[in-house]
Amino acid sequence: MKVAVGADHGGYVLKEAVEAALKELGAEVVDLGCFGAEVSVDYPEYGLKAAQAVASGQCDLGVVMCGTGIGISIAANKVPGVRCAVVTNEFMAEMTKRHNDANMIALGGRVITPEYAKELVKIWYNAQFEGGRHQRRIDQISDIEAMYGKHD
Ligand code: RB5
Repeated sequence: MKVAVGADHGGYVLKEAVEAALKELGAEVVDLGCFGAEVSVDYPEYGLKAAQAVASGQCDLGVVMCGTGIGISIAANKVPGVRCAVVTNEFMAEMTKRHNDANMIALGGRVITPEYAKELVKIWYNAQFEGGRHQRRIDQISDIEAMYGKHD
């Protein structure tokens, strides 16, 4: 699996741990920045880069990080085909893959610790989409994208 990783300055504190977790899982990491917490940068830029990598098929999955995980998830979710979930606990990490087939997750550097981020990434990565009625709901999300001109 190839996984895109992106963060702003607020999420940078998690990036190293997340990359380590992904490598422990055997994934190939594509690091799209940013590359330091000292300079204030804009999360939409990094959300977009990671989301484009996933939507284009260059990467299978993506993990994005900002202060809360919220802003960067909103940006990533503007890209057609991306389902990016903010995750703050183990249950959310598991269920967003099983039910939402989340191809990206967003984590908050001011919300969780790097060690907890590693745990959440591993749970999400290893969980399996259940399909069935959940596929129908994913298809309905795609229909909403199509209604507003966001096509896969
Ligand atoms: C940056 O200060 C902060 O707003 C950003 O990291 C994120 O939390 C936005 O949702």
